[in-house]
Parts: sequence; C-alpha cells; structure tokens
Amino acid sequence: MPRRNKIALIGAGNIGGELAALAARTNLGDVVLFDIPDKEGLAKGKALDLEQNGSILGYDSKIIGTSNWDDCAGADVVIITAGVPRKPGMSRDDLLSINLKIIRNVAENVKTKCKDAFVICISNPLDAMVYELKKVSGLPKERVVGMAGVLDSARMQLFLARELGVSVGDVQAMVLGGHGDTMVPVLNYCTVNGVPLRQLISKEKLDAIVARTAGGGGEIVKLMGTSAYYAPASAAIAMARSYLRDQKRLVPAAAYCEGEYGYKDLYIGVPVVIGARGVEKIVHIELSAEEKAMLDKSAAAVRELLDAAAKL
Ligand code: APR
Repeated sequence: MPRRNKIALIGAGNIGGELAALAARTNLGDVVLFDIPDKEGLAKGKALDLEQNGSILGYDSKIIGTSNWDDCAGADVVIITAGVPRKPGMSRDDLLSINLKIIRNVAENVKTKCKDAFVICISNPLDAMVYELKKVSGLPKERVVGMAGVLDSARMQLFLARELGVSVGDVQAMVLGGHGDTMVPVLNYCTVNGVPLRQLISKEKLDAIVARTAGGGGEIVKLMGTSAYYAPASAAIAMARSYLRDQKRLVPAAAYCEGEYGYKDLYIGVPVVIGARGVEKIVHIELSAEEKAMLDKSAAAVRELLDAAAKL
C-alpha cells in the first residue's frame, strides 16, 4: 500500500517550525514536530497553526506536535535542531558542552525509534554534533549527515549575486570544510552560469565576500540576537528532498570520511551525492594547494572540537 513519507523534526524552535512549514508546503510528507516536555505546548501549537495554514495554502500534510518519542517511530527522515542557538558574542564552538548532552539523548532515541531513517543534523557546533550522533546512534555513515555546506554556499551565492548585479539563480558556489570560521570556499568551481568567477570580480572584492561568508551566521546572530532559521531550514529540506525523491543532488555536506580527502574518522564538509541510499558517495574534486591547506586547517579545527567533546 502506498504510504506518505514521515518526517520527524527534533526541536520545535525557530528552525524546527520553519522546517515543518516548508515540508508541508512542498508536500514532502507528514510531519512530527518533537520537543522536550516543557515545550510540548509550543510544538503542538505550531503544528496546529501549520495544519490550519494548509486550508489556505492547499496542502494536506498531517502535522502533530509531541514530546513523546514513540510518535517519531518509523520516520523516513529525521532532522535535528535540538539544542541551544548562539547568542551574540558566542562562537558555534561555545555551544559544545550544552548541545553535546542534548545530542547524546537525541541519538539514543534515534537509535531505538528511527533506526531506518535518513538523519540530517543542524545543531551546532555542527561537525562535532553530527559525529556524536553517528557514534551514539550506531546508524550507518550513509544515513547520518550534517547540513552546513548548502547554507554556507547559499550565503556566498547571494553576496556574489548582489556584488555582480546578476540573478542569484545564476551563481554557483561551493563551500567545503567545517561549519565555522575555517570554512573553505573552493573558488575555482565558483561560476556565474559557467563563467569562472575570477573573470568577473576583483581579488579584493572576492576576499571580502569570502570573509563575509565565513562570518555569515554571526552577522545574523548580531542583528537579531539568535541564529538564522529560514535559510538553514530550506537547506536541510533540499537535502531531505534529494533523499526522499532520489534526486542524486551533488551538494556540499558534512559527511563521515574514512580516508576521503586524507581524513579518517571525521565529519567535515565535502561534496556528496544524496539519493535514495542516503549519502551515496563522497565526490573527489581537485583542490588547489592553497585550498587543500585551508581544508586541512579546517579539519584540524574540527578534530580539536572532537577531542574536546570526547572529554565531556
Ligand atoms: N530534544 C528535543 N528538543 C530539544 C532538546 C531535546 N533533548 N533540548 C532542547 N530542545 C529544543 C528546545 O526546547 C528548543 O525548542 O530545541 C529547540 C531549539 O530551538 P531554538 O532555541 O529556537 O533554536 P534554533 O534557532 O531552532 O536552532 C537550533 O540549530 O543552527 C543550529 O545553532 C543552532 O544549535 C542550534 C540549533
């Protein structure tokens, strides 16, 4: 019998709510919006508001709010935003000890209730959270992935489009590495509809855009006192859709490396193909010596974070 996809969203806060709205609007499936017992009212309220929105917008996704993991059982996709977002002045790494405890609890529940799901982690610090999620849940590496590169690339694409005065839809950028200050835009692969970026923009302007991209999350935290939610949600939904519809999109995402790019036992942003088998492959692209050195530096920063996490 045909059945509808079930999408469990762990964390019903700012990103969780936007994820639910997008999943429903794009008819991706039915949605379970999960949060801790103290926030069950918030989860249920958002779910009801969004179901009512379906009458206006014309979707019929079932959306429930809950604090009971049993309601998430059998989910096809799990997207995790559980945790605390950044406040002004905080780096993503500052969140480590708080969010690590939360992610361990979430991972235990994913292991028992959602072991067949494709799991996308958004909680920060991303590379450490997704590593812990895989370790504690025991899910295969193909089905545990972190959302960062799609968002970082989108930010860079926007800044480039505005600078060049072209449609954002024509700009392709790829940002690899850890989701932090050490992220690595691979400029040789950035184009405007196939035209290499470096033919269109001065080095100074490009450097400024690269720097703005690396601080792109912090810029928003500073403005509104909490972290971004619209674009992060859209990025994760694009990844979920690629899995559920077997689109085989090639996107940058935090994937578990076992030798790829020279990294072992590490989650870091690399180009991947997402299809019905999850992360179907990590794609090897040629990097300049400078880019590889930047990626190594980024990997070292992620490794430091993992070492710190292992002691907590
Ligand atoms: N299980 C489920 N949900 C939890 C748990 C838990 N163990 N612990 C906390 N939460 C919930 C909170 O109650 C809150 O409703 O996670 C939700 C997080 O929502 P927000 O505070 O609005 O944060 P949001 O902006 O959605 O960001 C969440 O994503 O981008 C990252 O840095 C960001 O780590 C942060 C996460």
